[in-house]
Amino acid sequence: MSLKSQILELYNKTEFSDIDRKLFLKFRNGLNTGEIRAAEKIEGKWITNNWVKKGILAGFQMGNIVQLGTFIDKDTYPIQDITNRKNVRMVPGGSSIREGAYIGENVIMMPPMYINVGAYIDDGSMIDSHALVGTCAQVGKNVHLSAASQIGGVLEPIGANPVIVEDNVFIGGNCGIYDGVIIEQNAIIAAGVIITGSTPVFDSVNNHFLTKDNNDSLHIPQGAVVVPGTRKMKSNNDFSIYCPIIIKYRDEKSNIAVTLEDALR
Ligand SMILES: CC(C)(COP(=O)(O)OP(=O)(O)OC[C@H]1O[C@@H](n2cnc3c(N)ncnc32)[C@H](O)[C@@H]1OP(=O)(O)O)[C@@H](O)C(=O)NCCC(=O)NCCS
Repeated sequence: MSLKSQILELYNKTEFSDIDRKLFLKFRNGLNTGEIRAAEKIEGKWITNNWVKKGILAGFQMGNIVQLGTFIDKDTYPIQDITNRKNVRMVPGGSSIREGAYIGENVIMMPPMYINVGAYIDDGSMIDSHALVGTCAQVGKNVHLSAASQIGGVLEPIGANPVIVEDNVFIGGNCGIYDGVIIEQNAIIAAGVIITGSTPVFDSVNNHFLTKDNNDSLHIPQGAVVVPGTRKMKSNNDFSIYCPIIIKYRDEKSNIAVTLEDALR
């Protein structure tokens, strides 16, 4: 039986044997190595692997609450040991990566930050202080998650898509990206922009509001530079309401504005 079928069976259980626990550890190790992903791009389209989310939930279900150093949590999700990861640094100071998250090569994490189960951080990305990478969120290569940026997690409902941040995206300080929003490659999200699945985002270059795709995901297009803005409220013109605006598409000036300090890498 495939690992997927075994995990789907595991998800429906209420009592767990040692064999079940071994199966879960195999699954969790697949998340650690990046071989198993909560979402992946197949033929240019992001697919959410619901069986993976079910496997993660089964881990919570079977876990026993134990003392983990100074913390108390489910024994199925201790803090991950990253000693053998290639050229990965985690600066001391209150950060943690939960078991079941993938960390690629040359990733830098600044304290305090937190990476939850099912998250996938690809090579060369920087996760700055106070950043959160929520459950199952997918972060591409050379992404910069600036200080205090929040990448929302989506474990339940099972069918909901996780947040996806593609390669070379820059997320500014204090941003919040939630509800299965997909930030396509090379986009720049200016400091303080909040985007949920139902936030109307206006593309001022092409003069239209962005709409969700067939999969119910809102995409911020490749190379878009999104800044915080406002629009008139539909129901009462005396008021304005928050509205992120694509002010332009990435140009040389934007590249300079988000150039990362090589000395840190
Ligand atoms: C978006 C950003 C990268 C600027 O990009 P840029 O390509 O240099 O942008 P420009 O200066 O060419 O500005 C283009 C337009 O966007 C507006 N704009 C730029 N940044 C803006 C912001 N943060 N908020 C609102 N409007 C902004 C400019 O006023 C300009 O509009 P206008 O022509 O109508 O006046 C920058 O504002 C930003 O957010 N940097 C991230 C800072 C950060 O979070 N650092 C992390 C530290 S840990």
